[in-house]
Amino acid sequence: MSLRTIDSLGDLTGKKVLVRCDLNVPLKDGQITDDGRIRASLPTLNRLIQAGARVIVVSHLGRPDGEPNSKYSLAPVAQRLCELLGKPVVFATDTVGSAAEESVAELEDGGVALLENLRFNAHETSKDAGERAQFAAKLAAFGDAFVSDGFGVVHRKQASVFELAEALPSAAGLLIEQELDVLERLTVVPEKPYTVVLGGSKVSDKLAVIGALLPKVDRLLIGGGMLFTFLVALGHKVGSSLLELDQVDAVKGYLAEAERLGVEIVLPTDIVVASEFGGDAEHVVTSADAIEETAFGASGLGLDIGPDTAARFAEAIIDSKTVFWNGPMGVFELAPFAAGTRAVASALTTFEGFGVVGGGDSAAAVRALGFNDDQFGHISTGGGASLEFLEGKSLPGLEVLGWQK
Ligand code: 3PG
Repeated sequence: MSLRTIDSLGDLTGKKVLVRCDLNVPLKDGQITDDGRIRASLPTLNRLIQAGARVIVVSHLGRPDGEPNSKYSLAPVAQRLCELLGKPVVFATDTVGSAAEESVAELEDGGVALLENLRFNAHETSKDAGERAQFAAKLAAFGDAFVSDGFGVVHRKQASVFELAEALPSAAGLLIEQELDVLERLTVVPEKPYTVVLGGSKVSDKLAVIGALLPKVDRLLIGGGMLFTFLVALGHKVGSSLLELDQVDAVKGYLAEAERLGVEIVLPTDIVVASEFGGDAEHVVTSADAIEETAFGASGLGLDIGPDTAARFAEAIIDSKTVFWNGPMGVFELAPFAAGTRAVASALTTFEGFGVVGGGDSAAAVRALGFNDDQFGHISTGGGASLEFLEGKSLPGLEVLGWQK
């Protein structure tokens, strides 16, 4: 692997270093519910602090549509960052305006400032390269060097990910280095048997990665909302469960391709079906080919894989040497529908191979269910980014840092 690293930036004492982190954490009522992405950013920030740099952190949070919106403010993140670093973090209430200028001017060697949400500025995510370059130039004016460490956004061609790296001497941070080491372990001669577990709601988000992984894996386990499109492809009825009818033919194509390649696609044989969406909803376990035969009829809603399926998935994981998991198996946020996700997480903590949990939702799920990060081989901070890496797509945020496989 080749990539410009922090060492390539030379002596950073007294230098103003902009750091692009992915501090896009889940919030509920203004409280951070999973600070994993903030903790994952600490090694790079501490390294720069110790080097005596003046550290200017930039990040997005959510998708605020290019204008300020207090719901997406990074203020709670600044507070948590301050606690985790054990030192003050100056929070600037704008990104490139006078508040940011003042915060940067006040910084001492080893000091840290966090600027307000990059996406409060429409040019950050503009499709127009000129607009992105203009915004990147304003950010670049604050710094002498740029460290890109937001692994979760390296698949995005956005001003703070791409153009900013062109505007200043730039290098990858320690998180990006670590994430790439892990993903390379999954792509370059992974130890076999290699099992991929995919869940989450939308099959359309996962088809490309399924296509790219089929020639490499031994087994693909399918759960989450996307499983119902697979069941329909097999000719089953799924009641009112999530379904992407326009993807059924594509799914049929992948099922045929898997058979040709000798890859086992493991689909649920039982499902937890509810009368409606909600933690108090009545629910029953039924066979995957009889979802409409429960008392709820065609209004039944599949919200989790059933216990037999969960046990089969756990066995398949334990029997593997390499596992990549992306996407919850069911609506884990509601206690009655969390068992499938819990079973997969638990199997990953006991198996003896190399297991990677990928993506914000799966990471949040395992933490919400009470697991600790150190029970897993690796918890990736990148959802879309890790999937696109595994698909073999070109990732602008890595290429601009001189990345070559
Ligand atoms: C993520 O949550 O996957 C990253 O923070 C990227 O966010 P985005 O999909 O809004 O670009």
